[in-house]
Amino acid sequence: MREFDEKSITAAVIGRLSQCDDPRFKRIMTALITHLHDFVRDVKLTESEWLTAIEFITDVGQTCTNKRQECILLSDTLGVSVLVITLNHPADEGSVESTVLGPFYWEDAPDLPRGSNLAEGVTGEPTFYSGRVLSVDGRPLENALLDIWSGDGEGNYDMQILGETGMKARGRIRTDAEGRYWFRSIRPTFYPVPTDGPVGGMLRKMGRHPYRPGHIHMIVSAPGHLTVTTHLFVAGSQYLDSDAVFGMKESLVAQFDRHPPGVDPSGERMETPFYMVNYDFRLRPAGAASATSVGT
Ligand SMILES: [Fe+2]
Repeated sequence: MREFDEKSITAAVIGRLSQCDDPRFKRIMTALITHLHDFVRDVKLTESEWLTAIEFITDVGQTCTNKRQECILLSDTLGVSVLVITLNHPADEGSVESTVLGPFYWEDAPDLPRGSNLAEGVTGEPTFYSGRVLSVDGRPLENALLDIWSGDGEGNYDMQILGETGMKARGRIRTDAEGRYWFRSIRPTFYPVPTDGPVGGMLRKMGRHPYRPGHIHMIVSAPGHLTVTTHLFVAGSQYLDSDAVFGMKESLVAQFDRHPPGVDPSGERMETPFYMVNYDFRLRPAGAASATSVGT
């Protein structure tokens, strides 16, 4: 029989890992137990606070559905997602920076021809996106894939719109032989992360606003290169300086130039003013650095 006091409990729990035969898992669990126990001792957690935390975590899990990922939102708003991404995807050699996946990714968006309008039937100001996908040494990457998604011009993702069951403002576009891509969508606006669940309650209690600056998401991939999960942020958008999920990176801020009604570069006649944005994505070769996917 052995009992533990408030200090010896930590070594005792870590000691139970002695039969663990996965060294990486053992290291992670050892550090997790150490920091978690230190945290409890540090704040002298009360039983009611501990129960509140248990209820909160339970609520976060139970809020998840096949269209809502409250766990990712919790990770995002606590800055953990961007910390993991920054550790695993250092931007160097001029490669495009990574940022958060966010909770609204939907796999298997439709493959569309270059020049397609991703935002057919979506409210928002029309925008022509173009640029190239290149290797860090400037070589054009043919057949690179851009998996693109955004909210509408009012900041709502298809998943959030009541009664909307299909994909909106999503699509996959491939580059041509010169590494060029182009497509049409809308100019995204700032929006609040979902605030009607436990994470929203946490933000209110912390005295924080829930807004993200306007951005369009993309996962850019090409054979033989590291896949990058990233955004283009709208220059001048509100909340660029206080992104609720800490995902803003200056190198990802793109200029959206306003044009009067007329013919856009794809030959489409635009009856309203439209925007044009141009951005090149540079990818590092696979094996250039830690290629750990964080999966968020
Ligand atoms: Fe987003």
